[in-house]
Order: sequence, then C-alpha cells, then structure tokens
Amino acid sequence: GKESAVTITVAGASGDLAKKKIFPALFALYYEGCLPKHFTIYGYARSKMTNEQLRTMISQTLTCRIDQSGNCGDKIEKFLQQCFYHSGQYNSEEDFSQLDKDLKEHEGGGLANRLFYLSVPPDVFIDVARCASLRASSLKGWTRVIVEKPFGRDSESSAELTRGLKNYLTEEQIYRIDHYLGKELVENLSVLRFSNLVFEPLWSRQYIRNVQLIFSEDFGTEGRGGYFDSYGIIRDIMQNHLLQILALFAMEPPISLDAEDIRNEKVKVLRSMRPLHIEDVVVGQYKSHVRGGVKYPGYTDDKTVPSNSITPTFAAAALFIDNARWDGVPFLMKAGKALHNRRAEIRVQFRHVPGHLFKRSFGMDLDQATNELVIRVQPDEAIYLKINNKVPGLGMRLDRSNLNLLYADRYSREIPDAYERLLLDAIEGERRLFIRSDELDAAWSLFTPLLKELEARKVVPELYPYGSRGPVGAHYLAAKYNVRWGDLG
Ligand code: BG6
Repeated sequence: GKESAVTITVAGASGDLAKKKIFPALFALYYEGCLPKHFTIYGYARSKMTNEQLRTMISQTLTCRIDQSGNCGDKIEKFLQQCFYHSGQYNSEEDFSQLDKDLKEHEGGGLANRLFYLSVPPDVFIDVARCASLRASSLKGWTRVIVEKPFGRDSESSAELTRGLKNYLTEEQIYRIDHYLGKELVENLSVLRFSNLVFEPLWSRQYIRNVQLIFSEDFGTEGRGGYFDSYGIIRDIMQNHLLQILALFAMEPPISLDAEDIRNEKVKVLRSMRPLHIEDVVVGQYKSHVRGGVKYPGYTDDKTVPSNSITPTFAAAALFIDNARWDGVPFLMKAGKALHNRRAEIRVQFRHVPGHLFKRSFGMDLDQATNELVIRVQPDEAIYLKINNKVPGLGMRLDRSNLNLLYADRYSREIPDAYERLLLDAIEGERRLFIRSDELDAAWSLFTPLLKELEARKVVPELYPYGSRGPVGAHYLAAKYNVRWGDLG
C-alpha cells in the first residue's frame, strides 16, 4: 500500500539511462502522487559526488509535464530533498553495508522495502545483485531488483546470467525490464483485443493474413557504437521488444490478468515458434549519405565501431507460430536505425472478404483493399482501422478510409513514459509486465541459432543510405510470403 516506506537505489546513477529515464520517471511518479508517502532515493555509483551534486545532475533532466498548478518548482525541490548519493564500488560488500546503514536510517526501524535498479554494465550485474541482496533475508519487508538488458548475448550467456542472479535472488525478486511492455499502446493491446467483440473473434489465421511489427529510428547509433557493435539490431530490438509484442499479440486468452497467467500464455507462444531460417532474414547496415548539403555519417564512421564491422543496424525477418491459431500466418518484423522516420507500430492485415461483390468499384488493386488495423505505439499514439467506404455521390465508387482513434484528439491526459509504469509496478510488486526467466530462455532459443549462423557465415549486411527506407531485400522477403509492408503505402 501507499503507506509503507520504500527506498529506491539506482546503481549506475551517473549513467545515461538513469539521467534520461529513471530519475525523471521517479519524479513524474512523485508529481502524480503515486510514490509512497515515505520514499527515499539513493544514487549509487563509483564516482565521488555529493548529495548536492547528484541533485543538480538530476534536476537538469526533470520536467513538469502538466504544470497547471504552478508549483512545479516547489515539487522538484521537495523531490530532490529525498534524493541522496552514495559512492562505492559495484563489487564491494563493504561499500554496500555502508549504504545499508544509510538506508536503515531512512527506514527508521520500520518496514524495509527496498528496490534496487541495476542500471550498470553487464559485467558487474551479478556483483551488484550479490551486494544488494546481502541484507535482504534479515530485513522486515521486501527487496526487489530491476535489471535491464542486455540479458546476455545468446542462450548460454543468458542462462549463465540467470544462474548467477538466482544464487542471490529468487525469481520473485527479479524484475527484468523490457520497456516496450510499459508503453501505453502495448498495454492496451489486450484491452483492444479481448474487450471488443469486433476484434476478438477475428484474431486468428481464419481472418488475419499477416501481422507486421515495425520499429524504426531516424538516428544512428551515435555515441553508443561500442555497446551496439557487439549486439546488433537483432539483439537490441527484435529478440526483446518486438518479440515481446508478438507474444502479447498472439497469446491465447489468459485465464486472468494475473502476472503468472499472462506470462504462462506468452511463453507458450514463444515456445511454439518455428525455428528461424537464415533465408527468412535480411540484414542491413546504414552508410553515409549527403542530403541537403548535410553529410550523415555511416555506421562504420563512428569512432567506436571497427571500420570493417558487419554488425546489422537493420533486420527484417519472417516468423511463424506453429500452433492452431496462427498456422501459416507470417509475422513480419522489421527494425532499423538511421531510417527515414521514427516509428513503432503493429499492423494487422486482414484477409479478403470472400466474393468480391464490389470488385469493379475499386479504383485500386483488390489486394490493397483489405482491412488493416494499425496500432501506432509511437509517436502520435493512435489506433486506426482501414475500411472500405463508398465515396459519397452518385454512382458506386469505393475507397479506403480510416476509422481513426488518435490519442491526442481523444484524451487530454499526457501519456506516461514506459519507465513510470514499470517502476510503479515494481514498487507495487506487480510482475505482469516484466520478463520471466522461462520467457527469456524461449526468446533466446528462437534467435540464438540464427545469430550464430549469421556470425559463422559472416553474412555481409546490405548497405542502405542513412535516412532511407532501408534495404530493398526487406521487400523481397515480404513478397516471398505475399506480403506488402503496410508502412510503405
Ligand atoms: C533500447 C535500445 O532498448 O530501445 C535502443 O537499446 C533504442 O537502441 C531504444 O534506441 C528505443 O526505445 P524508445 O522507447 O525510444 O523507442
């Protein structure tokens, strides 16, 4: 409940994620009155810093989204007063027991509910988990640990990480974040499907021709080349964000909204997936491009990337779920950096209406006249349905129009950042939107053989210009399954 105290320790407090996402999300929760009345936030990292310096650092990224009351500055000040800093090594039990003393002071002998956010490099993951969990069993209250990807880079390294974490923590204490699951429209997927009679019965191979999961960014790996080059887009986006959306999209109706019921269904989808063949994957890498007199750098122009890197910054894949509901339905994924726009969306293309009564009334190819449901996760959150409609007037001419639910028009509320929802869930012990270890295993089982084969064969990615629509190979891949990418019109 809201009455018990909680301490939140952000390990890796001076990192990018902490600055850009975690602290602002904590502030937003505070601002909205969602944090427990008694909360304390600790930044923990190796560098020396005073509480004041941490506060200054945090305050630079805090914004007030809704500031009608005009007391936002006030709230920022109050929030910052609850933020403290503790410097220490990530593997030092000694340093963590100092932190423990500080936390105890804030807990004042009452319940010790402790949330640790591990925003640290993968090589110190286990160390921090070990140190953070030291006192857990002797405390009255809960200790929970949020971890961020990369969860390894293949099945083996991921399993090793899981074993390492489980030496110190139970599965119930581990909160594996996939921030896409915290996005408003991803959360809404189940509502849209299971609470609408006009959708629920259609959600199968009987009516759905294909499903497309599309992620694009209009910027490159600027500054993150070091991390990115040893992972690549398949590990960075597909194996987690897009696959998680796919599992949620395709799962059987769970028996309840409980975390275990939902995750049980998701893991079944992941385990039903057909092994991915290298022929069903296209990889690309962006190259430099001059547009409007500006030179946009290629991936290998990044100083932190080896000049002969063949790491993909783009990938498209055709996946199949070999169960009764989805037999034969292609699930196409596409993810890329340095493309022409920033967008994440789910597109559901429906089958033809049998009979083609209006065949002659279309000004377009019938193939393009099927219904399509688009769930635009970002930006400009929206759900729209392409339907066929009669063009008003004499005669009989049809065209495609949108039934359009644009969030900005319909809802005046700001959409919370994914991290806000996920942090709040972790504080409240709600694990529905976090990845269970068997889900993680299944996700790696699907992608590991493919990744190994791509790497063993040294598959050279198709180059595409920075700011373009990506490699043409993605079209051939779709065409092979009789699919046209919906985002290209
Ligand atoms: C992260 C990836 O998980 O998601 C990044 O590591 C990517 O490469 C980011 O840019 C995208 O997240 P969002 O919420 O900005 O779409």
